[in-house]
Parts: sequence; C-alpha cells; structure tokens
Amino acid sequence: MNTIIFKNSDEACKKASDMICSVVKEKNDALLGLATGGTMENVYKYIVEEYKNKKVDFKSIRTINLDEYVGLNGDHPQSYRKYMDDRFFNHVNILKENTYVPVTTGDINKELLRIKDIIDGNKGADVQLLGVGINGHIAFNEPCDRLNASVSVVDLDEGTIKANSRYFSSIDEVPKKAVSLGIGDILKAKKIILLAFGCEKANAIRELLKNDFITTKVPCTFLKAHNDVTVIIDEALSKEL
Ligand code: PGA
Repeated sequence: MNTIIFKNSDEACKKASDMICSVVKEKNDALLGLATGGTMENVYKYIVEEYKNKKVDFKSIRTINLDEYVGLNGDHPQSYRKYMDDRFFNHVNILKENTYVPVTTGDINKELLRIKDIIDGNKGADVQLLGVGINGHIAFNEPCDRLNASVSVVDLDEGTIKANSRYFSSIDEVPKKAVSLGIGDILKAKKIILLAFGCEKANAIRELLKNDFITTKVPCTFLKAHNDVTVIIDEALSKEL
C-alpha cells in the first residue's frame, strides 16, 4: 500500500485529480469509479480545471458511482446524481449517457443487474476513487458481521445517517437505505485511490495502515487484499496515527 501525506486536503485533492487524469490520458475510454462526499469536492474542482486547460478529454470516458440513496430522484439536491452533475459532469465534455449513478426510484432489482453488467463488462473500474467513513465504511458497506461482495441494497449505519444529516434540513430526511457497490466490486478495480482527511478518520485509517488484519468490523481493511492502492491523507490525520 502506497501512502502519501500532504500538508492539507487541497494539495491532496490535486494529487488525486492528477492520478485520475493520467488514467484518462492513458485510456480514452476508461471506466472511472467515482465517489461523492465532502472529501471529493476539490478532486472534481481540479479535474474540471484540467479539462478547462485542455489537458484532458472526457468524450469517450465512462463513469460509475459507488452508491446512491434509495428513493432520491436524480434532481433531488442531496442525490449523488445531482452532486456529480453539479461538480463534474456538467462542466466537461463527457456524454451523460456514459455516466452512471444508480437510479433508485424505479425497479431496483433491474438496476442491480445493470450495475453488475457495467462492472463485469469492464472487469472492474480502471481506477476507483474512494472516501472512507468515520466507522471505516467504503461506499455504503457499513461495519457488520458480513459484507456484500457485489452491489446490493444496504441499510445505513446510525453513525453514517448522523454524519450525512449535515446535508439535510433534519436527520429524519436522511434516507435509511442505499444502493451500494459491494466490497468485491470495489476490489475488482485495477487501481484504487483512497482519500481521508482530518483526525476523525484516524481510527479507520489506523486499522488500514497499522496492522495486518482484515475485518468486516472496519470495511476499509479489505483494501489490504488489493495490490494497487494509494492512500492519500493530510497531516492532521497522519499526526493521529
Ligand atoms: P465524507 O464521506 O467525504 O463526506 O467524509 C466519506 C464517506 O462516508 O465515504
């Protein structure tokens, strides 16, 4: 596992953007595995900047997002489809039909099959961007006795609902379920870039970097089974390890 520590999250996001852009330059029809959340916002800001500087071209690029809340329409302000459109897709020359964020308002079983097809059709994403929850979740794979290998509908942990309530007007509005890629789907990616900032992520990152255990109680520890993972953290987090 390759770990890179940056002074601050902004520099770290620039590095993640550079890594994603090099995959785009190497393979013009790459499948990018994308993530949402506060951590990723500046990654997309820098990717869009690269596009505006004519350094990258998204015309044949395909994307798949890790997850989506069940029941939120794509135009809901807190849906991950809207997050992606607002921060990335609407600002580059990607074809919307090549961007995939789970659609969770219709026939979900059909949707799960569609996601499997996208992942298996490409034998996993060419690069997977990942955040991590305070509890160690990756995508919405929450700590549990067992974890799903492939995409499924999952229950959100109480801590995750609380953490994500900052984006909703009340905690009751936070959806309790999500469609999420499974751990196996994530591990199929050819390359994984995980970003984590701030001391509240220290427990999860310590379990990932400081011992040799893999445990369903801290889902990010499954990344130890992958041979091309870059963990990008800031100094505030690294001081707590
Ligand atoms: P955050 O979420 O970037 O908003 O901290 C990360 C996650 O829950 O995976």
